[in-house]
Amino acid sequence: MNRIRVGVLASGGGSNLQALLDHQRALGERRAADVVLVVSDKAGAGVLERARRAGIVVATHASSAHPDAPALATLLDEHRIDLVVLAGYLRMVPPGITRRFAGRMINVHPALLPAFGGPGMYGQRVHRAVLAAAAPASGATVHYVDEIYDHGAIIAQWPVPVLATDDEHALAARVLRAEHLLFPRVVQAVAAAMRHAAASAHGAAAVHFTDRLPSFDPELDDALLAQQLDDALAR
Ligand code: GRF
Repeated sequence: MNRIRVGVLASGGGSNLQALLDHQRALGERRAADVVLVVSDKAGAGVLERARRAGIVVATHASSAHPDAPALATLLDEHRIDLVVLAGYLRMVPPGITRRFAGRMINVHPALLPAFGGPGMYGQRVHRAVLAAAAPASGATVHYVDEIYDHGAIIAQWPVPVLATDDEHALAARVLRAEHLLFPRVVQAVAAAMRHAAASAHGAAAVHFTDRLPSFDPELDDALLAQQLDDALAR
């Protein structure tokens, strides 16, 4: 099967999109997916500029702010999207779309689930809640998307230590580092499983990695953490 066609939905600066594009570039011919469309609910979102710079088609979908833009479902159809990736997307995806993309839509969340998720748990609020609960760890979570916020089956959850000196900004930065390493690798693994399934006429099996992940040691540099993740995911 050809590479999996990924549509990314995002509302913000797009650092996770950038991490995904950088990882796919590094994989070269080994990449299982191509990002072919980036859609935002916000016309000025930084993610759109990053996508444009990479030569990817961008779109803003219809909402009360952009009533004349095409509907999300139309965009995903027009671009023959196989896998939808939510990378900092702050809206609820309409249930008709989550149902159609069941097992083919994933989200990255900047905390451990289910404890620190659900409606209203986004951005700095998540990190504040983790600190207020005096939790020993936060983390990066990648999960399948269903019709309930932050609820679908977890693919990979990478715990990140909370340090005694942390404020919400320090914690957010450490978790984002973990997201940038984990998220592109999960996209690659899910896309590879989808390609494999298409080649074998079976449905794509759900992918789960949490048990295999090493602990996130913030003292290590990114190259070493990336190597540890690659080894764990290859097992
Ligand atoms: C990330 O922390 C992501 O987990 C959350 O929103 C943030 C998006 O950051 N859902 P960016 O737009 O990818 O830089």
